[in-house]
Amino acid sequence: RHFSCPGTVAANFGSEEQPLGGAQTGSEDKIPKKRFSEVQKERREQAQRTVLIHCPNNINEKKFLKYLSQHGPINKHFFYESFGFYAVVEFCQKDSVNSLQSEALTPNMSTESAIPFKSRFLNLKLKNLSNKIPEQLCAQTSNQSPPSSKKLFELLNYAESIDDQLHTLLKTFQLTEENVRLRHLTCSLIEDIAAAYFPGCVIRPFGSSVNTFGKLGCDLDMFLDLDEIRKPDVHKNAGNFLMEFQVKNVPSERIATQKILSVIGECLDNFGPGCVGVQKILNARCPLVRFSHQASGFQCDLTTNNSIALKSSELLYIYGSLDSRVRALVFSVRCWARAHSLTSSIPGAWITNFSLTVMVIFFLQRRSPPILPTLDSLKSLADAEDRCILDGNNCTFIRDLCKIKPSGNTETLELLLKEFFEYFGNFAFNKNSINIRQGREQNKPDSSPLHIQNPFETSLNISKNVSQSQLQKFVDLARDSAWILEQEDKGQPSPSSKQPWGLAALLLPPGAAYPSLSKKKKKLMSEKVKGLLASIKSSSTDISKDTYGK
Ligand code: CTP
Ligand code: MG
Repeated sequence: RHFSCPGTVAANFGSEEQPLGGAQTGSEDKIPKKRFSEVQKERREQAQRTVLIHCPNNINEKKFLKYLSQHGPINKHFFYESFGFYAVVEFCQKDSVNSLQSEALTPNMSTESAIPFKSRFLNLKLKNLSNKIPEQLCAQTSNQSPPSSKKLFELLNYAESIDDQLHTLLKTFQLTEENVRLRHLTCSLIEDIAAAYFPGCVIRPFGSSVNTFGKLGCDLDMFLDLDEIRKPDVHKNAGNFLMEFQVKNVPSERIATQKILSVIGECLDNFGPGCVGVQKILNARCPLVRFSHQASGFQCDLTTNNSIALKSSELLYIYGSLDSRVRALVFSVRCWARAHSLTSSIPGAWITNFSLTVMVIFFLQRRSPPILPTLDSLKSLADAEDRCILDGNNCTFIRDLCKIKPSGNTETLELLLKEFFEYFGNFAFNKNSINIRQGREQNKPDSSPLHIQNPFETSLNISKNVSQSQLQKFVDLARDSAWILEQEDKGQPSPSSKQPWGLAALLLPPGAAYPSLSKKKKKLMSEKVKGLLASIKSSSTDISKDTYGK
């Protein structure tokens, strides 16, 4: 009777439950999908009713919930471990949070001194420590990290087909319902800190936390949105008068961004409960504050004045939601790239996950019939209310997923993965740029090894950082992987064999799946040279294409 939210008795909920309105795999294709803005709004509202509690790890779940529900009914809760034992508790009403906060004390330290800051990140202490409770009453934890590679290989080897392997990989790596909640809660907690300076500001998650391509363990990109402050609360027609705030002015938008982030960085460092390792990276093209939120385990990147990145997250959300094959393919390509150190958590000359995602989208636009529409066609479907111009860039596209016609293409994931590797193993990177706006190659406007046009700031290259040698490594691995998948077709290692097969073989270091690869590769290379000579003889226009393995 303490938990009166209908149908949501405070019990642990399985990670099977899917994120709100998020695009999932398989049959849910038919379920109407929510707009990005709707999902974000619901998640934000949910997070505002939620608290994060550090608990003793032998806590009695039932008693804990009974104690908390004195403040009001609980909608959902779960426990997890990350340098300690934590509970995420979502109340049905926001008032319950205030009630709980009003009961909490600021700790009295004997040797150190506490900076009093009343947040929604709390610490629960047991008054009587000696009461050991039976194990079955202890709270179960939900896992927030990806599986070990051993576990992954086991799962992949048990799968029935390569298509099944891609789905398995997606299921094991995608963000769980709990992880999504924890991400929104973390933003909401940071928003409370930022709001101490900028009342009415909003911290929005963007990037892979919300674009449907997030893998467990990915960073948490946050955007401090001050536009909400700029908008007036009420519109009144006051005749000849117009009231404005007195503000301080600085010479440029960039300086304003740097000043704001600098002060928020100081706040996080000095008062932010659980925020550690705060670094201000203010001279980057897009200035940011990086920190780790210890309790959630997230590495956070906070930016501001970056609304185009939020818009590109929305675009990716649409692409990820349109067809269930998109996410399965992107996850596999991302895992493949990570397994071969093509991507890294350290910034450098590597390809990024964002670039890989755009490459997959481009590839799917190139299929016949196309699996994904071009950005220009999404723009042509847009209504007047979808119109969006940011910093002079036209970011308009249709936001209602139901108005986009599904693809008639029925190709299997196995085929698409193989074709992806073949396509990019033979792509004319030396002269062509990847462009998802038009869905076709364009001439490269500059000499960067890999050119992928930023979909909204079209003069920018999202993979400007990639070196020639990293690109070459990508191409070589793509060719090897296409070859491995081709061998599968010829009935080589199969689901019944003990050897890693299919996707599992692709995730192993080169040569490990097929020790004879290098010998076969030599033969292949000579075929390639022959092909090259033939194409020169026939004065083909593009000698870098279609010479591999054909
Ligand atoms: N972004 C961009 N241009 C870039 C890099 C990033 O517009 N050159 C935007 C994209 O919207 C991207 C977001 O910033 O999704 C976050 O960047 P990042 O964290 O690098 O990529 P994610 O997509 O979040 O992928 P990951 O899981 O690797 O964090
Ligand atoms: Mg990210």
